[in-house]
Amino acid sequence: MQQVTLLVTGAAGQLGREVVRAASAARQVVALGRAELDVTDSAAVRAAVTAHRPTTVINGAAWTDVDGCELDPDRAYLANATAVDHLADACAEVGAHLVQVSTDFVFDGEPGPDGRFTPYGEDRPTNPLNVYGASKLAGEVAAGDGATVVRTTWLQSADGPGMVGRIMADLAADDGAVELLGDRRACPTFIVDLVPVLLRLADERVAGVVHVVNEGVASWAEMGRMVAVEVGADPNRIVAVSEADLGPPRPARRPAYSALDGAGLRRLGHPPMRHHRDAVAATVARLRG
Ligand SMILES: NC(=O)c1ccc[n+]([C@@H]2O[C@H](COP(=O)([O-])OP(=O)(O)OC[C@H]3O[C@@H](n4cnc5c(N)ncnc54)[C@H](OP(=O)(O)O)[C@@H]3O)[C@@H](O)[C@H]2O)c1
Repeated sequence: MQQVTLLVTGAAGQLGREVVRAASAARQVVALGRAELDVTDSAAVRAAVTAHRPTTVINGAAWTDVDGCELDPDRAYLANATAVDHLADACAEVGAHLVQVSTDFVFDGEPGPDGRFTPYGEDRPTNPLNVYGASKLAGEVAAGDGATVVRTTWLQSADGPGMVGRIMADLAADDGAVELLGDRRACPTFIVDLVPVLLRLADERVAGVVHVVNEGVASWAEMGRMVAVEVGADPNRIVAVSEADLGPPRPARRPAYSALDGAGLRRLGHPPMRHHRDAVAATVARLRG
């Protein structure tokens, strides 16, 4: 059987690193961080893709600074949309399948027509509240109809302390309260769980948008209480605060509710992802060594 060659862009990012690590066991992987390939450089993208002739390209590159994007829309669109156009063109030239990673921030977080908040399915209308979300939505379109577009939310580190580690450190620092946002809710998604699904969708060359998230919906404060329970601390030390409590408004608005529905993934025959509570427990265990 011909060896699958996977080219990963943005390979030094938190998602890119885990894609490279997980894929390397069974695939030939070409890992290109920003230093090796600037995806906004169309000639460089074409040269890299035609040189390596990958079976699949996973684009882990993005400008993910949500407030930075708000202040510099040109740079946001260049990195998050125009670059995807370059990748799609280069993939078409060598017959490679493109996997683009996108975000819950394509949605506005308003309740549905029935006035209730329900997790977003793939077919719900998009309406980004900020430039980052709009540029990522443009990137979905740029990827083209044949590409796999994986939308996900609130990525949690596979190889560093991440949010779980920061909460553990805050709980260990003293006996006081730990303030965490309680007024935004989504699906904390653990990169270690996301990546195998991403690779399987890539191998299957699934076309279109697929929502890939850990099960369950939470605010940061609710996730913080899970961490507290896991480390044996009093969960009441986690105090939910609102974004307004944390200081002056940030440049970019964020959706208050951006949970994604994983039903589309199950329809494709994939098992449901584990609940984020189980992933929190596993992460606490990993960080404790
Ligand atoms: N993090 C989340 O919570 C979250 C949630 C939903 C969706 N996503 C999506 O998931 C994907 C991966 O995000 P992540 O959390 O892994 O982000 P990340 O850690 O910021 O990684 C992105 C990588 O892309 C690189 N990059 C930026 N501009 C580039 C360019 N012009 N050429 C080549 N590389 C470039 C960055 O390099 P520098 O560091 O040098 O800039 C960084 O290494 C993104 O598409 C993001 O939109 C993330």
